[in-house]
Amino acid sequence: MTDSRIPTVRLGADGPEVGVQGLGCMGMSWAYGPTDAEESRATLERALELGVTLYDTAEGYGDGDNERFLSPFFRAHRDEVVIATKFGVRVPAGDRTKRVIRGDAPYVRQAVEGSLRRLDVDVIDLYYMHRRDVNVPIEETVGAMAELVREGKVKHLGLSEVTADELRAAQAVHPIAAVQSEWSLFSRDIEANVVPAARELGVALVPYSPLGRGFLAGSFSNADKDLTDGDVRRSMPRFQGDNAATNAALLDPIRTVAEAHHASPAQIALAWVQQRADVHGLAVAQIPGTTKRRRVEENAAATAIVLTDEELAALEPIASKVAGTRYPDMTFASAGRE
Ligand SMILES: NC(=O)c1ccc[n+]([C@@H]2O[C@H](COP(=O)([O-])OP(=O)(O)OC[C@H]3O[C@@H](n4cnc5c(N)ncnc54)[C@H](OP(=O)(O)O)[C@@H]3O)[C@@H](O)[C@H]2O)c1
Repeated sequence: MTDSRIPTVRLGADGPEVGVQGLGCMGMSWAYGPTDAEESRATLERALELGVTLYDTAEGYGDGDNERFLSPFFRAHRDEVVIATKFGVRVPAGDRTKRVIRGDAPYVRQAVEGSLRRLDVDVIDLYYMHRRDVNVPIEETVGAMAELVREGKVKHLGLSEVTADELRAAQAVHPIAAVQSEWSLFSRDIEANVVPAARELGVALVPYSPLGRGFLAGSFSNADKDLTDGDVRRSMPRFQGDNAATNAALLDPIRTVAEAHHASPAQIALAWVQQRADVHGLAVAQIPGTTKRRRVEENAAATAIVLTDEELAALEPIASKVAGTRYPDMTFASAGRE
């Protein structure tokens, strides 16, 4: 791995310029089993050296713990990092399988104050609606977000797991810099409607879970057997029982392509996501999550890999064969509300 910095891309017409690969920070303090704060801090520093500038968190990751954990890093590098956080999905204490979604204007105003306080910064660079609150018109939610831009509390707006219709309605209220949705070799449902709408509107895509939450990288193969109690991946149908076995058998073409590039399966999964920018003609900045220095180096190095048409063709059928949904309740994803 060389120390050369990764390329950059602009999010939306007037959004921030960021490294084409950001860093998902959720697992540093929540959701994916045991954590190591010291190694996570070193991972953040190493990522920045490599040109990773977009850092992703949310108020709901450990009830604000993730934002608090990241705060010292952000303050130490305030002018070099693009801070992205999200509001509107809280996990009630005692039940990690439940989600409370809020998008009413009073909640948006309250949530931003909480994130600013925990992050200990004056402004959030990219503020996402984490999920659509179907009990609130999206115009109300985005209208409240637009107020935050006018007040200087937030620089740019984003939306996570919105449908194409929701994106269009939001964009009519205020420019949207980015849609953050799951996009990977295993999860391609957004290509039907959301991606074409984003391209048409000039909105960037920020793919989350590009490594299939680690499954595509081979970091686990069966949630029940390999992951600890409380790991949220244990609740995801595609990682359970027979589904997990079916899906593990789909990884062979990824391994074959990896061998040809002297690369890891994780790197091929990331190269594939990055090439969606060319395939679909829109800006893409994916946010793989890792808590380890050596992996942030490995993942950043994937930005130099270009897959051939033959390799893309070999990887093409995988998603359509995946067994099991990506969430237990698919209304939590845009595809479940289309
Ligand atoms: N908007 C939303 O609703 C939403 C939902 C989920 C996630 N997100 C965001 O997206 C980010 C990324 O998604 P994600 O963390 O769910 O999934 P991901 O990036 O697909 O995978 C992360 C998992 O892969 C492992 N990993 C990373 N690099 C690896 C490598 N080179 N080789 C082997 N294993 C590797 C990580 O373990 P180690 O830490 O041990 O490396 C971690 O368990 C999150 O951190 C979060 O910020 C957003």
